[in-house]
Amino acid sequence: MHTTGWIILAAGLGKRMKSSLPKVLQPICGEALVVHGLNRIAEVTPQAQVWIVVGHGRELVEKAVLESRASQKLKIKFVLQETQSGTGHATRCVYDAGHAAALKSLSQVIVLPGDAPLMSADLLSELARPLAKKQAVRLATTLMSNPTGYGRIVRSGKGAKAPVQKIVEEKDATAVQKKITEINAAFYTFEPKFLEQALKSLKANNAQKELYLTDVIADARKKKLTVEALLWSRSEDLKGVNDLWELSQAGLVMNERILRSHALNGVRLEDPSTTWIDAAVEIEAGVVIGPSVKLSGKTRIQSGSTIKQGTVILDSSVGRDCQIGPYAHLRPESVVHDRVKLGNFVELKKSEIGADTSVAHLSYLGDATVGTRVNIGCGFITCNFDGRTIDGSRKHRTIIENDVFMGSDCQAIAPIRIGRGAYVASGSTLTEDVEAEALAIARSKQVNKPGYARRLK
Ligand code: UD1
Ligand code: MG
Repeated sequence: MHTTGWIILAAGLGKRMKSSLPKVLQPICGEALVVHGLNRIAEVTPQAQVWIVVGHGRELVEKAVLESRASQKLKIKFVLQETQSGTGHATRCVYDAGHAAALKSLSQVIVLPGDAPLMSADLLSELARPLAKKQAVRLATTLMSNPTGYGRIVRSGKGAKAPVQKIVEEKDATAVQKKITEINAAFYTFEPKFLEQALKSLKANNAQKELYLTDVIADARKKKLTVEALLWSRSEDLKGVNDLWELSQAGLVMNERILRSHALNGVRLEDPSTTWIDAAVEIEAGVVIGPSVKLSGKTRIQSGSTIKQGTVILDSSVGRDCQIGPYAHLRPESVVHDRVKLGNFVELKKSEIGADTSVAHLSYLGDATVGTRVNIGCGFITCNFDGRTIDGSRKHRTIIENDVFMGSDCQAIAPIRIGRGAYVASGSTLTEDVEAEALAIARSKQVNKPGYARRLK
C-alpha cells in the first residue's frame, strides 16, 4: 500500500516578524499560518499522519493546532525542537524523537514549512504522487521575479530540463547565484530511509551555522539518486511569510481565494475589493453581500439573506431571508433566526433573535433572548451590565417574549423579562418584569403649561 506522511516545521520564532507571537501563529483570514497548511493536507490526504515540529511558543502552537477543524481530520503528533538549529535539524528531531520506525514504514514523507499558508491542494496532490524507483526527492520550485530571501535552485546546466544539483541559501549565494530566479519553496517529498541517512550527515558549515534541510538535495545527487524538480507556475502558492508585510500580502491572496470560492458557490459579492471573509465562515448559495462587509470566525449565513454595507459579524449565525445592516455589528455567540431585519447601527452581543422579528434602527441587544414577531423600536438598549459581579457573572439577561411591541427609545435594566404580547410605551426605562399582554409605561407624565413658553423667551 502506498502511504504518505507529513512533517511541518513550525519551531521557529520568526525574528523578522518583530512580534512576540510565534510566526506560525500569525493569522490570515482568521486562522494561524500553520493551520492553513493543515487544512490543505486534510483535503489531500484525510487521516494522514502529520508530525509538527514545535519550539517557540510550543504550548500556544499545540493549542491552536488542536483547536483547528483540520486537526480532527488528521493524526497529529508534536515533536519538540529545543533549540532552533535549522530546518535540517528540525526534521531530524522527528526521527530522533522515536518516530524513525513509523517514518520508514511510509512510502514517502512530505516536509513543509509552517510559514507558507498559500500552498494549494493541487500542488500538494502533485507532491504526494508516488516517487519513482531510485528517486530520493521531489521538490517544488518556481520562478520569482524578485527571489530575494529564498534558496536558489542550482542546476547542472541551462534550462528547466537540466538536473538540479543543489540549493544555495540567499546568505551563502555568490553574486552570480543570487541572479538565479528559480527558488526553493521548501516543499519536499522524500523517500524516508534516504532522508534519515542524509539528515545524519548534515553539517553546519554555512553563513547561518545551521543544519539546512536544503543540503539534503546535493547529498541525493552524490548518491546518484533522482532529484525531481516540480516547477510550479503559480508562484503565489509557494510564497513564504517572513515579515508582517508578507503576512498582509498573503492575507490579500487568501481572502481573494475565499471570496472567489463563495462566488462560484452562488454568493453574490457586490464589491470583492472591500469584502473580508474568514476561512471558516460558511455561506449558503443565494446570499448577497454588500461592500465593506467583514465576516469573521465561525460565522454562518443561510440562503436568501442580504448582508448590507459596512456590516461586521464575528462567530455568529444568520438564518434564511434576513436583512442585516447597513452597518450592523454582530458580536460573538449571536443567533439570528429566519426573516429577521436588523437595520443600521444595531449591535448584538450573545443574543438570540427569533424569526420575523425586526430591530430596525440604532439598538444594542446584549445577553438578550428575543422571541418571534417582536418589534423593537428605534434606539432600544439592554442595560446588561451594572458594574458588579453577581454569582460570578457581570452580565444579566434580558428576555423579550414572542409578539412584544417595544416602543422607541426604551431601555430594559437586566435581569428582566418582558412577557408575551406585552406593549411597552416609547421612552420607557423598564426596571421590573412586564407580564404577558400588559401595557408598560415607565416614564414621567407629560405636563403642558399653556402660554408658559413666552415667559421663557
Ligand atoms: C527556507 C529554506 C529556503 C526556502 C524558504 C522558502 C532552508 C535552509 N531554507 O528558508 O531554501 O527558499 O524556506 O520559504 O531550509 N524552522 C524550524 N526550526 C528551525 C528553523 C526553522 O522549525 O530550526 C521552521 C520555521 O518555523 C519555518 C520553517 O521552518 O516555519 C522555515 O524556516 P525559515 O526560517 O522561515 O526559513 P527561510 O529562511 O524562509
Ligand atoms: Mg520562511
